[in-house]
Formats: sequence, structure tokens, C-alpha cells
Amino acid sequence: MYLKKYKIAELLRYDTEILIIGSGIAGLTAAVAAAEKKRQITLISKTKLNSGSTPHAQGGIAVVYPDNPDDSFDKHITDTLNAGADLCNKSAVEILVKEGSERIIDLINWGIEFDKINETKKLHFTKEAAHNANRILHCSGDATGREIEFGLIKKMRQYENIFVKEHIFAIDLVAIDQKCVGCICYDDNTGQYIFIHSQKTILAGGGIGQLYRETTNPEEITGDTIAMAYRCGATLVDLEFIQFHPTTFYYAGAPRFLISESVRGEGGYLINKNKERFMFKYHSAGELAARDIVSRAISQEMINTDSANVYLDLTHLSEKLIETRFPNIMNNCLHYGIDIRKDYIPVRPAEHYFMGGIKTNLFCETDIEDLLACGECACVGTHGANRLASNSLLEGLVFGYRAGLQAVETFNWSTVNLYNLDFAKTPLKKIAVYNIDDAKNSIKSLMWRKVGIFRNDAQLNEALITICKWKEFLLNNEFNEISGYELQNQIILAELIVRAALLRDESRGAHYRTDFPQLRKDYNFKHFEFNIKNENNR
Ligand code: FAD
Ligand code: SIN
Repeated sequence: MYLKKYKIAELLRYDTEILIIGSGIAGLTAAVAAAEKKRQITLISKTKLNSGSTPHAQGGIAVVYPDNPDDSFDKHITDTLNAGADLCNKSAVEILVKEGSERIIDLINWGIEFDKINETKKLHFTKEAAHNANRILHCSGDATGREIEFGLIKKMRQYENIFVKEHIFAIDLVAIDQKCVGCICYDDNTGQYIFIHSQKTILAGGGIGQLYRETTNPEEITGDTIAMAYRCGATLVDLEFIQFHPTTFYYAGAPRFLISESVRGEGGYLINKNKERFMFKYHSAGELAARDIVSRAISQEMINTDSANVYLDLTHLSEKLIETRFPNIMNNCLHYGIDIRKDYIPVRPAEHYFMGGIKTNLFCETDIEDLLACGECACVGTHGANRLASNSLLEGLVFGYRAGLQAVETFNWSTVNLYNLDFAKTPLKKIAVYNIDDAKNSIKSLMWRKVGIFRNDAQLNEALITICKWKEFLLNNEFNEISGYELQNQIILAELIVRAALLRDESRGAHYRTDFPQLRKDYNFKHFEFNIKNENNR
């Protein structure tokens, strides 16, 4: 299934050995790993290079570092498996943790500076929810993602065999007999459609955040690479598992920027509108309970107190700690007149991370030949039903590196007669008048209300009926603009997420069904998969 109908021979063509779609931590790391082995790489990004969720990451990156006597590989593996609630792939978790420690040393060698203890040479490790050790490294206080993104871009710029193309929107993968041969893209610089012919294609397009009205993710995160993988025949898995971050800034008109979990890790309290600290009513770990528990507790407290938000209270912490650990959060809040050293921060949960995605093996290969995936768009099994805080940057780093190496190691030129390809057989109708932004907002609102932190059969079925109605119209019409393609990707994923949430009639990790509040033991290690070829799922 293709969004854009075209004749290959009529498109401008560009040839590359390895195409990487996405320039977050996963795409950049894959590019560096492959470039070291002298392959010719083209890396594209739908907006500017410095885009996606990575530059927004705050809290840090979890790692077992040789310098840290309080931690061990086994401890980090156990914490990750526990958060994943019997749905992780243990081998993937072991790779994440063990290779993570090597990859962090790479980052340090490439010039990325992690914060140290009081200007000593010792790295400072902080704590986040559900971690049984202080193992989170961070940069410039709360700007870990920004520093890692810039450091990786700087490293990538050293390779003459990496060609970077910004403002290229990937629309459709081209696959012949289950083999990926490249991607149809829209070049927003020239207004032309192009075909990038590649021997290996690595998807690193990030998550799905913009499917939800409340999200921490930036505008460009619309699930494109996941939807295009599905359309070309790759299997998607674990789509019901969506992580909602407990604390995003809530102030009418202001963006929902993240108030990092490390704020609670450093001792911040959650209080309701009556100034009561409420988390211990819900879990013995209080503010440091797992993310899904805290998000549900906050939502419940908002209902109980008839309030649109709760508050984070840092007023008992030292001003110096707040200023050095959270300079960006402090300045962002100050813009809206909130001085977090003295005032409570209004917060509420928002969509944050997609545990599901494109199914891959441990080498990042999908079930389409020559198509790999890594980072948040992929699902290799490191997170299961819920991701442990600060394990995502680590995953992008470890599996981005693996994807780059695998693309190189399995590289093998083969020729396909591309000029025979013709996808213009069933032209779609062109839409006369249609408000794409309005349609996007409607999906976001529907997903937030019916497929959010709490779900049940009635709400999910209601959402499904509406989504299917909208989908029929959206996929039978042609949009010759980026935002229209994004909308088509979003409606495809919205339907699949709802179907997955309906199939899982239990509560586990981040997936909470009010009509099935218990975990089903017979579902341990059970995954729901979706493949366009298997219409039984649809
Ligand atoms: P991204 O960084 O999201 O990059 C996706 C890339 O794909 C972008 O370059 C985008 O332009 C490109 N792209 C997408 N679609 C297309 C298309 N159609 N065509 C061309 N290009 C495309 N995790 C942690 O471990 N620690 C943290 O402290 C942390 N804090 C976070 C804070 C915030 C506010 C957010 C939003 C997330 C945070 N996370 C954190 C999660 C983590 O940042 C992300 O999961 C991770 O950065 C994803 O990396 P990625 O490389 O897979 O994708
Ligand atoms: C945060 O800083 O709270 C985000 C950490 C994460 O998503 O892993």
C-alpha cells in the first residue's frame, strides 16, 4: 500500500549505499557506526538535522559505568525486566545494559561531557523512578539530549562518506518481493518528489507523540517511519504500550514541556490542590514509584480534587541544587512567572514514549530484507510493557550502533530493474477542501480521551468506529503535502493501537484497562503482532 502513486522512471533518482531516515540519537549513531566501515551513507531528516525527541531529553541516560561501585549489570538488567512486566526480551536487555557501558565510553571519547561531582573528575549519577541504584548520567544539568545530539552531529561531520540531507520527508518505502530497495521522498527544499535508491535502509524516525493531544514530543514526531514500515509489509508489535509521563508543565497556552523525573529523583514532592502529598496513598515508593503508577495516581487525584493538574513542590530543596541541576526547567517556568525555587509547579501527565513499534531481531533487522529499524520507532524487546526511565537514549545508542554495523556487515550489491516499477495504477481522488490541522486535532483529542492512561472496551470500540470512518476517507484521497501524509500515517497507527489495546484484555505495565484491572498470567510473554498481509488482525 502506497500513499503516493507514482512511476519510478518519472522521479528524480538519487543512489546511496545506506539510507538512514532520522537524525536523532539512533540515526546519528547508526551513521557513525556504518561510516567507520567506509560505506557511503545518506542521512535524511524531515526538518532540520537537530530534530526529533533526542534534543529535548532531560533527565539523562542510564548506564552501569565501571566507576560506579554501587551498581552492576545484573541490577540494571533486573530493574529493566521488572519495569517491562514479563514482556521484555531478556537477550535484548542484556545487550542494552552490557553494550551500553561501552557506548557511553565512546560518547565520552567523542567529547560529550557528562556532569561531574562538584568539579571533581568523578561522574555524578542521579536516581530516577524504579532504578535500584544511582545510575543516570546527565549533561548541563537537565539538557542531556541537547548535548548528546550536538556531540553526535559533531562526530558525524568528521566523516566525508556521510551525506546529510535536511528537509527531506520520507513518504513510502519501496519493496519488491519483500526486499526494500529505497524510499520515495518529498524534497521540501525544491518541491520535488525523489526516489532514493538504497541497498540498505535504516529507519530511525522516532515515536508517535503527536497522535495525542497532550504530549512531550515535538511537532515532527508523527509515527511516519512506523506507518511506512507497516505499509510495506513489516510486522509491528506491542502497539498497546504507550508510556505517559507523569509530569509535564500545565499552564494554559504554554507548551507542555517536560518536568524531568529527576526532579523527583532529587527529592521533589507531588502535592494536590489542597497541598497534600498524596503518592504514598498509591504506592510505598511514593514519588519514585514506576511511571505508569505515578501517572495513574495523578490522574485519579485530579478527578478526586476536581482539578486540571497537581503540583510539584521543590521549595524544600536548596536553591543551589535547583539552579545547578535544573537550569532549563527553572528558566522555562520563569517565562510563565513561576519561580520553582519558591512556587509550586503545575503539572499533569502527557504521552511520552512508544514501547511498541517495528519488530526487529537483535541485529535490528525487520522481516523485510534490507530494511532495518532502531531507536524509538523499533521494538527489539528492551522495554516490554513499560520503559524504565532513561533507558531510551541508551537504546538509541546501543541499537543505533548495532543497526549501522549490521547494515555494513550484510552489505551486498544486488540489481533490480527499478524502471519497471509503476505504482500509478490506482490513482486516488484529490481532495477539494479539507482542513488537515482540524483532522489532526480531532484524532489527537480522540486518542487522549478514549485511548489514554485509562482504557476500557466501550471507549476503545467507540474510538475504533470513529477512526475507521475517518480512515476510509483519508486513505482514499490524495494529499500532495507533508502534513497530509503525516495525517494518513497517524490514522493508520491510531487504528492499530486501538486494535492492540482491545486485544489485550488485562492490565500490564503502561496498558491499564479499567474493565480488566488485573494482570493475566497466561499473557506473560504474549505479544500481539500486526502485519498488513494478515488481514485477520484488521
Ligand atoms: P528521535 O530523536 O525522535 O528522532 C527522530 C528523527 O526522525 C528526527 O530527526 C525526525 O526529523 C526524523 N523523521 C521522522 N519522520 C521522518 C520522515 N517521514 N522523513 C524524514 N525524517 C523523519 N529518554 C531518555 O532515555 N532519557 C531522557 O532523559 C529522556 N527525556 C525525554 C524528554 C522529552 C521531552 C522527550 C520527548 C523524550 C525523552 N526521552 C528520554 C525519550 C528519548 O528522548 C527518545 O525516545 C529518543 O531520543 C528517541 O530517539 P530516536 O533517535 O529514536 O528518535
Ligand atoms: C525525564 O527526564 O523525566 C525523562 C526521562 C525518560 O523519559 O527516560
